[in-house]
Amino acid sequence: MGIFAEFTTGDKSKFNRFCYIYIIMILVTGGTGLVGSHLLWHLLQKGEKVRAIHRPGSDLEQVRQVFDYYNTTGHGSNKSGGRNLTGDDLPSGEMNAESGKSEEGEGLNGSNPDELFSRIDWFPADILDHPALSEALEGISRVYHCVAIVSFDPSERNKVIKDNIESTANIVNLCLDNNLEKLCHVSSVSAIGNRYDGEPASEEDFWKPSKRRHAYSISKFHSEMEVWRGIEEGLNAVIVNPSVILGPGNWKRGSAAFFTRIQKGLKYYTGGMTGFVDVRDVCRCMIGLMESDISGERFIINSENIYYRDLFNMIADALEKPRPSKYASRQLVEAGWRLEWLRSRLTFSKPLLTRETARSGRSISRFSNEKIRKALGCGFFPVRETIGWTARGLIHNAGGIRQ
Ligand SMILES: NC(=O)c1ccc[n+]([C@@H]2O[C@H](COP(=O)([O-])OP(=O)(O)OC[C@H]3O[C@@H](n4cnc5c(N)ncnc54)[C@H](OP(=O)(O)O)[C@@H]3O)[C@@H](O)[C@H]2O)c1
Repeated sequence: MGIFAEFTTGDKSKFNRFCYIYIIMILVTGGTGLVGSHLLWHLLQKGEKVRAIHRPGSDLEQVRQVFDYYNTTGHGSNKSGGRNLTGDDLPSGEMNAESGKSEEGEGLNGSNPDELFSRIDWFPADILDHPALSEALEGISRVYHCVAIVSFDPSERNKVIKDNIESTANIVNLCLDNNLEKLCHVSSVSAIGNRYDGEPASEEDFWKPSKRRHAYSISKFHSEMEVWRGIEEGLNAVIVNPSVILGPGNWKRGSAAFFTRIQKGLKYYTGGMTGFVDVRDVCRCMIGLMESDISGERFIINSENIYYRDLFNMIADALEKPRPSKYASRQLVEAGWRLEWLRSRLTFSKPLLTRETARSGRSISRFSNEKIRKALGCGFFPVRETIGWTARGLIHNAGGIRQ
């Protein structure tokens, strides 16, 4: 009775609190990032009530822009025969054996980007601010933890390790304290162990420390360990370990920057290979795992293992730009990152190439997706299809690069 009386007397904070407790169910951290923004779209498509945390400087417009991509560039169909998919056709065992995609899900409901965006309950909170985060979790039953600093800049080494581990520990502790229903933690293949026998690495390959580990890999391994600690303490949680995630987003950040570099005329390619996956598949697997009874397990989310050269060629073709034609030899790459380091020091700017990115561009890594395929009966967009979709996003985006 009390709380309803307060609504009628106009106590908005009490009303909001009522809504949080009785209606809003899902919290997304990192909602302004690549994974988080696409995940918000997929959750909203399913009619979920979502809250997302953001910082004062977070670019919320970026999220609306991502929603706009789904509206204008489509969300799955292309020449290769993929199907339009909504958030509803999540891995449910109804996948097309040939393409690995669902037979259902043509069309969208409620896909107006502005209307969809307006449904998000944006909550100001830095993930390192424990009291603010605690408030953000009020009334929440499920958490998708997508926050991380994804950086290979040596000057950010300590921050990457400290903040990524601390943010995950904060989430895990609050989920335990509040007895939340379930957590989905976004880890990475950087927290999977290397294989040296040419076979694809699996969830059973355990990460080992080494001098060659970069800060991001160390941070993702120890973040994951925080989640395993939480699971030991009774937390219901699943972990996803995506490979390099492709999809339209902030064109200056992460894998989307490959597209802008190639659009501007990248000349070099390296000899390395790694796994790549569509952001839509990452979101679908996360939601599928959260809606399943699965807990206390981790899953590699990967579509295909591809040489960088082939990836760059596919991106160049999709953007109708020249393919990078010069092979960056070991000597060239080693000289390149050192020169870039010097340039960044002299110009006080971020290096475009670091020792870590240079070396990972030359290393060969393969990842297996067998476990997630078996668990959810799901398939993955072929990388070429993802590249076509992402390239359409870049071309659509005001004729090019977002400044
Ligand atoms: N992208 C990939 O290829 C890839 C591959 C494998 C795994 N992952 C993992 O996937 C997850 C999401 O990656 P992403 O590519 O979406 O990263 P992203 O685009 O760089 O987004 C990172 C997100 O974290 C937020 N964030 C960072 N520090 C924060 C803080 N102190 N408080 C609140 N928010 C904070 C950022 O907010 P602001 O907007 O305010 O900066 C942003 O929303 C990460 O865990 C990453 O390790 C990514």
